[in-house]
Amino acid sequence: MATSRPTIGHEFWEGRYQAGRTGWERGVPTPAFRRLLASDRAPVPGRVVVPGCGRGHDALLFAEAGHQVTGLDFAPSAIAGARELATAAGLADRVTFKVADVLGADVSVHVGQYDFAVERACYCALHPSDRERYVESVAKMLRPGGRLIGSFFVGPAEGGPPFAATWEEIEASLAPWFETETVGFALEETPLPGADLFAIVRKRT
Ligand SMILES: C[S@@+](CC[C@H](N)C(=O)[O-])C[C@H]1O[C@@H](n2cnc3c(N)ncnc32)[C@H](O)[C@@H]1O
Repeated sequence: MATSRPTIGHEFWEGRYQAGRTGWERGVPTPAFRRLLASDRAPVPGRVVVPGCGRGHDALLFAEAGHQVTGLDFAPSAIAGARELATAAGLADRVTFKVADVLGADVSVHVGQYDFAVERACYCALHPSDRERYVESVAKMLRPGGRLIGSFFVGPAEGGPPFAATWEEIEASLAPWFETETVGFALEETPLPGADLFAIVRKRT
């Protein structure tokens, strides 16, 4: 039976990259991730997946810090741009970018592969009806005890994307798979009207 999921498909995001309408991008890594990696709480280098990586600024930050990184995004232009940036930064041996749908079967080859997932503005880009599936995908890609390090956009709901969520809603959707270790507002302004919440959550064992 046909379903009428309101999911926003790759054509939408590909169109945004091709048209240069990427108002969410800072063009540099997420400051909260940079601070984490420079702190005494920096995660020991391991295997990292970045779902909805876009042009890969955060993936490259973690690669630069010594992690082995895989960036996933279903917009081919984003992945092409990310690969160019990786080559220009001399990090192509530490980061792999793949065209993949993080809500679908593409995730199966990544099951249990990662110590960390790093998410910035992917959760808020998904229709709320896809959140449960997204959280499950991220959890499945992590090993038991692996951590999701997130910069979650919270802001006004304008019909999306982004689809606003409160931390309470985000945490409730994470709860079947993750327990919260750290959460707090990031210090800097976001490129979009709203705020970023920095959080680290640990996959339940
Ligand atoms: C708001 S952008 C954020 C991109 C990047 N994380 C950043 O901070 O610049 C959301 C990204 O998620 C990607 N995306 C949305 N749904 C996806 C899905 N189901 N599978 C893979 N990527 C997805 C889009 O193509 C887009 O690059």
